[in-house]
Amino acid sequence: MARAFVVPIPINFNEVEIGAIPTTIDEKKIKVGIVPNPIIPPHWRDGATLVNPIGKKSKTRVGEKYAPIVFSEFFGNSRPVEMEIGCGKGKFLVARSIENPDTNFLGIDRVSKFMNIGKTRAQKRALPNIRFLRAEARAFLTEAIAPASVSLFHLYFPDPWPKRRHQIRRVFTAEFLRMLHARLLPGGLIEIATDDEDYFAAMKKTIAATAELWDHARETMNQRILDGMNKTSYEIKWAAQGRSLFYAELKKR
Ligand SMILES: C[S@@+](CC[C@H](N)C(=O)[O-])C[C@H]1O[C@@H](n2cnc3c(N)ncnc32)[C@H](O)[C@@H]1O
Repeated sequence: MARAFVVPIPINFNEVEIGAIPTTIDEKKIKVGIVPNPIIPPHWRDGATLVNPIGKKSKTRVGEKYAPIVFSEFFGNSRPVEMEIGCGKGKFLVARSIENPDTNFLGIDRVSKFMNIGKTRAQKRALPNIRFLRAEARAFLTEAIAPASVSLFHLYFPDPWPKRRHQIRRVFTAEFLRMLHARLLPGGLIEIATDDEDYFAAMKKTIAATAELWDHARETMNQRILDGMNKTSYEIKWAAQGRSLFYAELKKR
């Protein structure tokens, strides 16, 4: 059910303090519109603040709208773009951006508190090829990211929501995968990691349900991307606790 309302666009580009800020973005712009996002379940679209299925207010506002990003303007060049969804403190992405200066990196997280640590790390090193934005992944990817524009999505340790009644909040759904698939370039990759065996089993079912989209779907880490040196904060934390870690890679057909 679509709801009409008027919302100021909370252009999250104020998070972008490194390098060029896109000139096409008007932060004061007011948009009158319909919430078009079919990916957010209808019962989440109730009122001004997103209300999750157990009635708690979410940090994400229903009306949060994102202006489309043209990567060549956003980064000032036409190099390939990798995105980390739920980048946390950005440790992994900052290290990867240093190792791959000819690639652009965009980290998004719906919580800025920890993401700002990554932003500060990147600023201290004056890294020209990495940006961080505070954004809710589903809405942001749907509204801001163009089809066939991303070479690689990193999705590491998404919140597992282990209680059955909370599992509706999991980000890894068939709809989400189809949306990522559409935004990937041909041959593009999705790298996935989780420490939650139950979530991994559910992920594998979702991958199987979208099998026609993938050139390959493997249940191992891609050593070239997640090598022994570059780990995410949660990867280090869970490995130190002796937890089993599960990895997968999807390649767009
Ligand atoms: C368990 S942490 C993992 C952080 C990082 N990927 C790592 O491996 O260290 C999950 C992160 O995803 C973010 N997150 C959860 N749901 C999100 C959503 N719908 N959109 C954007 N970020 C989200 C959380 O704020 C949190 O920072």
